[in-house]
Amino acid sequence: MINDENNRKEELLLQRYGIDAMPKEILWNNQIEALLSHRSVRKYLPDALPEGAIETIVAAAQSASNSSNLNQWSVIAVTDVELKAEVAKTSRLGSKFGKGNPYIEQAPVFLLWIADMYRNNEISSVENGSNEVQKYTDALLMASIDTAIASQNAVIAAESLGLGVVYIGAMRNNAKEIAALLNLPAYSYVVFGMVLGMPDPSEVSSIRPRLSQKAVLHYNGYDRKSWKEEVPVYEKAFLKFRQDNSLKPQTWQDAVRFSSNDMTYMEGRQNLRQTLEERGFELR
Ligand SMILES: Cc1cc2nc3c(=O)[nH]c(=O)nc-3n(C[C@H](O)[C@H](O)[C@H](O)COP(=O)(O)O)c2cc1C
Repeated sequence: MINDENNRKEELLLQRYGIDAMPKEILWNNQIEALLSHRSVRKYLPDALPEGAIETIVAAAQSASNSSNLNQWSVIAVTDVELKAEVAKTSRLGSKFGKGNPYIEQAPVFLLWIADMYRNNEISSVENGSNEVQKYTDALLMASIDTAIASQNAVIAAESLGLGVVYIGAMRNNAKEIAALLNLPAYSYVVFGMVLGMPDPSEVSSIRPRLSQKAVLHYNGYDRKSWKEEVPVYEKAFLKFRQDNSLKPQTWQDAVRFSSNDMTYMEGRQNLRQTLEERGFELR
């Protein structure tokens, strides 16, 4: 039993970090094992979710901490096949990448995670309330942070039920059109989507390696140099992952450079500030 557990731990750490960067002092239990087993799923069966799955996942999401307990997020579960296709199509408007994220249509449920200051704006508008605080950038950040924290609890819950997920940041590509399609009120926007369904067992996703802990974990102050030695180590694990998964060879640094330097990466998200302002967020 202990041996099985140790083997599993070694295997997961190997996949997460590659042979040259496995951390040594890792404590272990079922929950840690589940977290370290995460992988995004991009191939789904069309099967319906088990009864109660959405409510269970949302209960997990609502159990996450949230700023001042303001409850500033909502989630729309899109289960209607036609609406789901329409949402996917809207996210692809103007895209150079053709039919991006086709798994949205494959899986039975698409969750849209919404940073939602609308409810509290209504509550606070009585008796000439100014909603002054909501006009600052921090308010938008708070709602967006809380949405992200809640949604990650949803991921953990879904995976514990044997379901698969993948986040879809592409929902911000055409944030204005997505908000209109879903009839979102002011002071709210879709932060990201999340595909939710039964993973197709014929195409199990691999665990994607991460940067070594030496690059990301700092004790008692930021070390600006440590990452430089770690990136070449990471490139080896990154390349192996791409080879093992028949992905075109590319370095991680090239991927980073593309995402930083090439505006085609933005796919419309450069309009987000304008959309947010139109939706009532003042970003002061
Ligand atoms: C906020 C967010 C947005 C994402 N958007 C997309 C997306 O639009 N399409 C996609 O295929 N994956 C998307 N992903 C998944 C990431 O590509 C994935 O998490 C990352 O490559 C690490 O892989 P892993 O989740 O399998 O460990 C997104 C992830 C996050 C957290």
